[in-house]
Amino acid sequence: MATTRISRREHQRRRRKLLRMMAPGSLAIVPGAGVFGADGGMASAFRQDSDFWYLSGFAESGAVLALRRGREGRRNGGDKDAAILFCRERNALEELYDGERLGPQRAAKALGLDAAHPLSEMDARMPALVGAASAIHCSLGEHSDFDQRLSGWLAQARAKRLRPADNILGLKPLLHELRLIKSAAEIGLMRRAAEITVEGHLRALRACRPGLLEGNLEAELLYGFLRGGARNTAYPCIVAGGANACVLHYMANDAPLGQDDLVLVDAGCEYERYAADLTRTFPVAGRFSPKQRALYEIVLEAQQAAIAACRPGALFDAPDAAALKVMQDGLVRLGLLLDEQPDGAAAERPAFCPHRTSHWLGLDVHDCSGDRPEDGVRTLAPGMVLTVEPGLYVPPGMKEAPSKWRGMGVRIEDDVLITADRPQVLTSGAPKSVEDIERVMASG
Ligand code: GLY
Ligand code: MN
Ligand code: MN
Repeated sequence: MATTRISRREHQRRRRKLLRMMAPGSLAIVPGAGVFGADGGMASAFRQDSDFWYLSGFAESGAVLALRRGREGRRNGGDKDAAILFCRERNALEELYDGERLGPQRAAKALGLDAAHPLSEMDARMPALVGAASAIHCSLGEHSDFDQRLSGWLAQARAKRLRPADNILGLKPLLHELRLIKSAAEIGLMRRAAEITVEGHLRALRACRPGLLEGNLEAELLYGFLRGGARNTAYPCIVAGGANACVLHYMANDAPLGQDDLVLVDAGCEYERYAADLTRTFPVAGRFSPKQRALYEIVLEAQQAAIAACRPGALFDAPDAAALKVMQDGLVRLGLLLDEQPDGAAAERPAFCPHRTSHWLGLDVHDCSGDRPEDGVRTLAPGMVLTVEPGLYVPPGMKEAPSKWRGMGVRIEDDVLITADRPQVLTSGAPKSVEDIERVMASG
């Protein structure tokens, strides 16, 4: 049965806030996973849709939430706000395989909703709901099945001489404004996700030695995550030795770790549905060479400058700008970049730092990455959580770089909570100064 560490009251508060953002008479339709599109069956683990989860806390597959904003002040029976769930009915045989279901009879009370109906009644009930709506908020284009079903409900509403809204509006632009600011309960879960993730990284750091396979470090990470109470990773682990670190989303994790190489480990667990996202880069044999240390310390200085820029009121882009400045100066010092900026022209992003420094973090690892206004101009506010992950990469084929630097990649990533005061680094337990990394590796 569904469980969550976020209270029923908090879910009710979230739904109320979303309804306040919607126009009177409008309707939001939020499908859970496994109604439209495949639910994966036994072949892959079921993962509830994040928007649905945020609004309901209901973990079962095969459910749809409809939120209707009332038309206050309307005479003759003006309707009220309502949260209506469609979910699967109880079924002894299916529950024998999949475990206990809540069922529509119990769901409304358990989840603090106004009504719950069997999923099998959704097609009969939806035309009246969409037919009365002044606007419909939903995420079109994610599942063609959903888009087609909605068209069918609208057609049926018209056939019944209802006048459904023809303006279909996005849901994410509203909902992700709420998801961006984490509550105290969410921050608690994210702290735990970060702690467990740090434990996994410490295991990998201590176990690392030349001749192991990248996948052997992945085993340490996964052991630490599961041991800590996480059930999943937030994304596939990246364990990239040597030049593999220059492949940003490397996932093969099947190469041996070389004596003279760095290894980049980017891995985070998902705990109670909240993601952590942590990267450390360290020498396979436990001691940085002067060349490795030189590149590493530029990224470290860039990351520290970027974290310092994570202040309320700063632009989302401020940490990226701070990191880029340090990395550009460092690349010039190392002779990898020429010290010439075209007069007045905005500096281009060097090829050595191809990705941006931050993304939002929360229920998804790349959280709230839907169709919202450009993040670059958004200002940071207390309760937001973002990653800070500058990286420098010199791929083996990068002919313009002196050969001694080629085949190296360094990324350092932490999860940062914006507070009214100083930024809080949720993943600060993972060593990252050269001295701390060497000390922990020596103690392994
Ligand atoms: N682990 C994926 C990322 O850092 O964005
Ligand atoms: Mn990241
Ligand atoms: Mn990462």
